[in-house]
Amino acid sequence: MPATEPRRRQRLYINIDHVATIRQARRGLEPSPREAARVCELAGADGITAHLREDRRHIQDADIHDLAGVVRTVLNLEMACTEEMLLLAERLQPHQVTLVPERREEVTTEGGLDVTHDVERLRDGLARLNAVGIRSSLFIAPDVATVEASLALGALAVELHTGPYSHGRGDPAALRALRDSAARGAEIGLAVHAGHGLTVANVGPVAAIPEIEELNIGHSVVSRSVFVGLAEAVRELRAAMDAARRGA
Ligand code: PXP
Repeated sequence: MPATEPRRRQRLYINIDHVATIRQARRGLEPSPREAARVCELAGADGITAHLREDRRHIQDADIHDLAGVVRTVLNLEMACTEEMLLLAERLQPHQVTLVPERREEVTTEGGLDVTHDVERLRDGLARLNAVGIRSSLFIAPDVATVEASLALGALAVELHTGPYSHGRGDPAALRALRDSAARGAEIGLAVHAGHGLTVANVGPVAAIPEIEELNIGHSVVSRSVFVGLAEAVRELRAAMDAARRGA
């Protein structure tokens, strides 16, 4: 982090999947995720996140190839821990890979990874990512035992699922779970990220958790961009996060 940045600045990564969702509605060329990434970066995003789903419902393989070449900040590839995806990650070497659970019938990633299931597959996947210098992260429920299990599997980072908080309209117990998990993650040496369902209206309490280094936000930004444009939607989020970090 450059010395001029405030010490507690939190990174904002914009998930551009839903730019591709709009494009896929017509199976055409626009809007372009590549162009969206450029606009987000110019508006202050610290990274670009994209999820290549097994069913290719939004982001396509060509988008990931494209983004790996043009993203100037950080490319965070979300993917399932499958052989196909691991080979792709090893070939393209995005800066970061976040392993997520994937079910074809889900509307979006609905839960965190079950780190007690398929332990060998996750351990092997993380080892392969770490071996080529990719920052590996596991998308998990905000739960202390799951955070500890993630470290044991070899993850360098965890992304805490903020869905229970955001869908619970700021439920205090869900926020407490995020705080406790973030504190434990940082204590044992994991980088702590968070995301899912965050908006300008609800991001404050999560952005204020000091151990959370990075937020991944997608749907609300692309939705808001319909009315104010993508750059302004990113700036609004950045401002809400910074205000929360300052305790404003
Ligand atoms: N983090 C992960 C792991 C996700 O799967 C998603 C959704 O694609 C997000 C963050 C962003 O969630 P949202 O689109 O609700 O902001």
